Amino acid sequence: MSALTGILATEVRKIEETAAMSREIQKQRLTHHLMPPTGWLNDPNGLCYFKGRYHVFFQYAPFDAEGGLKFWGHYSSEDLVSWRYEGVPLYPDSNYDCHGVYSGSAIVEDEKLHLFFTGNIKMDGDYDYINNGRQASTLHVESEDGVHFSAKEVAVDYRNYPEDYTQHVRDPKVWKDGADYFMALGGRKKNDQGAVLIYKSEDLKNWDYDKEITTEEPFGYMWECPDLFEIDGEQALSISPQGLEREEYRFQNIYQSGYFLLKEDKINVKEFQEWDMGFDFYAPQTFEDAKGRRILIGWMGLPDVEEEYTNPTAKDEGWQHCLTIPREITLHDGRLYQYPVEEMEALRGRCCEIDETQKNIEVWKPFELDLKLDSRKCRISVGDDLMFEADGREACLRLSEKAGAGRKQRKAVIPSGRLKELRMLVDTTAVEIYLNHGEVVSSTRYYPGKTTQVVKLEADKIQGHIYELKEMTGIK
Ligand code: FRU
Repeated sequence: MSALTGILATEVRKIEETAAMSREIQKQRLTHHLMPPTGWLNDPNGLCYFKGRYHVFFQYAPFDAEGGLKFWGHYSSEDLVSWRYEGVPLYPDSNYDCHGVYSGSAIVEDEKLHLFFTGNIKMDGDYDYINNGRQASTLHVESEDGVHFSAKEVAVDYRNYPEDYTQHVRDPKVWKDGADYFMALGGRKKNDQGAVLIYKSEDLKNWDYDKEITTEEPFGYMWECPDLFEIDGEQALSISPQGLEREEYRFQNIYQSGYFLLKEDKINVKEFQEWDMGFDFYAPQTFEDAKGRRILIGWMGLPDVEEEYTNPTAKDEGWQHCLTIPREITLHDGRLYQYPVEEMEALRGRCCEIDETQKNIEVWKPFELDLKLDSRKCRISVGDDLMFEADGREACLRLSEKAGAGRKQRKAVIPSGRLKELRMLVDTTAVEIYLNHGEVVSSTRYYPGKTTQVVKLEADKIQGHIYELKEMTGIK
């Protein structure tokens, strides 16, 4: 370990220990969403299943709840509901990444866990624009136990990206196909078009540029966090594009994330489907687990488009943002559905049955609502803080002034035309809503005022259950 790594490790440990002392009085902390021990969290990174445990790494800025210098944090779990915080595996401590260890992915090969990620160097000048004020190399480390990693090596040097790209090239996602390895990198071209670069390797060490995937019509200026995977014989490309114009029902946040189903690498911008219709969802990553499931985790947090929202947890409790619940992805009628992994059901505690006579229910906190209904219109209110409505094809989530902290409503279209099933998982300051078994999903942070809540159900032919949700263990 270098002297710099040693100093950073000591400082991180100190700040995490200090934060742990005030945990009891932090009322906005989450019980079933992974969050940072202190400071800031953004993208999920390095998702994988390795030697009997799930690994969830994340973008972590421990010293500043408003962002800043990026490290990787690390949780692991045997069952996706009891977690162990593994500390910081990657520090910004080398000549290639001392201004941030940016996002990346994992691949398991020959009993080793390999991580690929972006090392970020900011140069003098306008590094957020299309000159060379940034050096973004792709780096690699490996591990035999999933916790301790080898020294960093350069996999793709920042000087080796194609000529027509800026230095906004990042977020490697690596996979194997046949005997070869492939890597997708998100990029911004010099003509301000977003695209994905594909690299190829035979040994995970030497990488050659293979091809580019982009749209004919421009579709945003930058594509972050690409993920290319196969599902039921279809190729899906997930991206997080920046620079799309807001529409009434789509692209309502500052940045978007969604996917294309690819046909021979050709993509039509009209076929882009957003992953999530809530206020807080970005930069998702998927992986395949030992059971052959494709699991997705996203970042629940985004800068505000209206610039009126401030997440109260940063000021009040010194931390900000969380990850979504792990969701299983399945393909139905040309769309990818997302649904909480079945392991989440282990968190269900006390239960209350809902029928036609039970329409105002005092609930535990946190809780889960699992409903079937047969009604054109439906309205579900959680206290005075949150209201969800569906009317035919239109769905709408509204937050009160207090609970929205500056944010008001998000609308969505239900492609199949009507709401028949709804599942809502309500955490202390986060809510995930799944319509029709994951056809449409909405993820949002919210900040309710009261400690007790009454759920009010207004719909016809409604039946189902409300469950108390127990805490996931081990969330720092
Ligand atoms: C997406 C992103 C990535 C980058 C990381 C830095 O939220 O901007 O493109 O690697 O965050 O934290």
